[in-house]
Amino acid sequence: MWRRWMWPASCAGYGRRKNCRREFLRKCCSGTSPPTPADGLRLDPDDPRLLLHELASSGTEEDLGRSILGCGDGPAAFNSALTRRGGCVVSCDPLYRFSAGQIRGRIEATRGTIMEQLRRSRGDYVWDLLPSPEALESVRLAAMEEFLADFEEGREEVRYLAAELPHLPFAPGRFDLALCSHLLFLYSGQLSLEFHRAALLELCRVAREVRIFPLLDLGGAKSPYVERLAGEFAEAGHEVELRRVPYEFQKGADEMMRVRASVPGEVRRLCRV
Ligand SMILES: C[S@@+](CC[C@H](N)C(=O)[O-])C[C@H]1O[C@@H](n2cnc3c(N)ncnc32)[C@H](O)[C@@H]1O
Repeated sequence: MWRRWMWPASCAGYGRRKNCRREFLRKCCSGTSPPTPADGLRLDPDDPRLLLHELASSGTEEDLGRSILGCGDGPAAFNSALTRRGGCVVSCDPLYRFSAGQIRGRIEATRGTIMEQLRRSRGDYVWDLLPSPEALESVRLAAMEEFLADFEEGREEVRYLAAELPHLPFAPGRFDLALCSHLLFLYSGQLSLEFHRAALLELCRVAREVRIFPLLDLGGAKSPYVERLAGEFAEAGHEVELRRVPYEFQKGADEMMRVRASVPGEVRRLCRV
């Protein structure tokens, strides 16, 4: 159910956080970011769960006809599967500056560590769609194989683009929909409020609608930036909604944020930006 954001934010007094962005990017690009279940849900292009995660189940067939940006898509099969279904999608990620061989090497090198972390924190996840860490690993690796098989061709077709928030190389309003999963809000401990604000503004600049999932940080707590940014963007005239989604893998991570720019392709200035 959609819930319109009502909280009137004050724009004063932003706290300063140490910006660990460089270290964060290094970790993400070396494949040490935590495992996510998204890949596993993207294996079968006819599986209705394919788009639950990315599109947060708001009418997948309708969304298929839209021009989609996947921001921070990583080595997952979303782009490949959606393209096969006739979708129009561009994925951007700093990871894509590497070759398929280099990406495979990074995945292999970090596989053991990721599995170890996952087994240790097993209780933090809901094991219904996937019964075990081993099952997750196997679907995740299969999804990565699908990505790697599609990567070079997709790069030539400019479906995979090496680019990163908060500056994207797209014209205003280039996309109908921008999706960002397991990046913004999840890394609130590593990426500052200022980074999140600039990133959300940029996504609103290039897309008419932005969806971000999940709203929890890595520790499983709701990101403190959610309320702050929802309030600021709503106050600036954008439509901001929080929505519960029928998907939960990290326990409690069952909400997404949707932002629609007040004027498509344009972003009204926030009072402090
Ligand atoms: C945890 S993964 C999520 C992958 C995928 N979206 C999913 O949900 O499974 C985070 C991804 O964000 C990418 N990333 C890191 N910093 C970024 C930035 N500033 N802009 C865009 N992508 C970024 C990383 O390279 C990594 O592939």
